[in-house]
Amino acid sequence: MLTFKSKSQDLVNIESGNLDNNIVVDVHQLNHYFGKGNLKKQVLFDINLQIGKGEIVLMTGPSGSGKTTLLTLSGGLRSPQEGSMRVLGVEMVGASKRKVIEVRRNIGYIFQAHNLLKSLTAQQNVQMAGQLHAEMSSKEIKERATEMLDAVGLSDRKSYYPDNLSGGQKQRVAIARALMSHPKLVLADEPTAALDSKSGREIVEIMQKLAKEQGTTILMVTHDHRILDVADRIVHLEDGCLAQNDVLTVSE
Ligand SMILES: Nc1ncnc2c1ncn2[C@@H]1O[C@H](COP(=O)(O)OP(=O)(O)OP(=O)(O)O)[C@@H](O)[C@H]1O
Ligand SMILES: [Mg+2]
Repeated sequence: MLTFKSKSQDLVNIESGNLDNNIVVDVHQLNHYFGKGNLKKQVLFDINLQIGKGEIVLMTGPSGSGKTTLLTLSGGLRSPQEGSMRVLGVEMVGASKRKVIEVRRNIGYIFQAHNLLKSLTAQQNVQMAGQLHAEMSSKEIKERATEMLDAVGLSDRKSYYPDNLSGGQKQRVAIARALMSHPKLVLADEPTAALDSKSGREIVEIMQKLAKEQGTTILMVTHDHRILDVADRIVHLEDGCLAQNDVLTVSE
């Protein structure tokens, strides 16, 4: 259990037991706008989406339909404006900065630009994610990073710097980093886009395996039709509206 006391003294208590019906992401009537005044443009319309614990949900949709916007809102990387968006039991609409930060600590992000630090080795890049967690000792962080790099098939590349790794290998480091601190939710934006189909498939299978082992929920944007079968559910965004939101299946 992770309990954090915020400055405003409201307790942020992120624990799966606190989630209503094990719903990790719970979105109701969410609208989102970019711009102001005459330039204000609505990009998300009445989004309703519930994602259960341990569920793997893939999101598809044409370019510009709002996928990345919905993903960044879910991850607390952008503030939701209208409607309700509960992530790990915390209402993100109107949430304090501190609350948002605590929610983020429970999320692993895999975005297309790997954002690996060039001056750090693969091992050190992965360890970085553990350092955000005061409850992990440096010994635990090291062991966990090693374990994660082994899991993504990079046992022999731990001491390599990003410049000396291939695109697929960098993507694996990013996955190891995202899953390093046992996140409850993983958000991935086209993680296989830069990979050939075989490596792409391998990457999502690694994510699927690790997620099932750890009970992690995954929301992944993809255009890659060859990986759709790893999903428990596929949702489709079109012009800012969500379709094909099938019946929720919650795995215990
Ligand atoms: N920071 C921003 N300011 C203004 N408009 C934005 C901003 N970010 C995105 N948009 C607009 O919002 C809409 C949705 O963009 P978004 O990036 O969510 O689409 P997407 O579905 O992820 O597309 P792609 O598949 O090309 O990545 C687009 O019309 C885009 O132009
Ligand atoms: Mg996008």
